[in-house]
Amino acid sequence: MVSDEALLRAALQARERSYCPYSRFAVGAALLAASGGIYTGANVENASYGLSMCAERVALFRAVAAGERSFLKLAIVGGPAGRAPEALCPPCGACRQALFEFAPDLEVLLGTARGIETRFPLRNLLPEPFEL
Ligand code: THU
Repeated sequence: MVSDEALLRAALQARERSYCPYSRFAVGAALLAASGGIYTGANVENASYGLSMCAERVALFRAVAAGERSFLKLAIVGGPAGRAPEALCPPCGACRQALFEFAPDLEVLLGTARGIETRFPLRNLLPEPFEL
């Protein structure tokens, strides 16, 4: 059983590997699969700014590419690079939609260096998701 605190620690560790020379804003994410596996991500930027990828989608796509299809929780931390995260980093709209595809019942945990600060059901963060 993976605790919420362990998931937050995984997100904080992943954030250390953020590649963000342009924004200097480092994000880490840790996604808990129904299998019990944890998949982490950090934001990865590019000189062609629009090619940059959010930490949340890095974690999600790593997990799906590893064969996972079902997810329970996602911990996110973010803030100015080189400093402990002090403010919440809610996921962007694109990541909310991408997560909804696989995990409409996901619980999103927003943390800082102090610990988990708040929790949201993904459905509350994305009230009218696009569905085919
Ligand atoms: N970013 C994320 O990784 N996740 C979010 O939810 C919002 C923004 C990244 C993208 C970019 O590398 C940096 O944060 C600043 O926007």
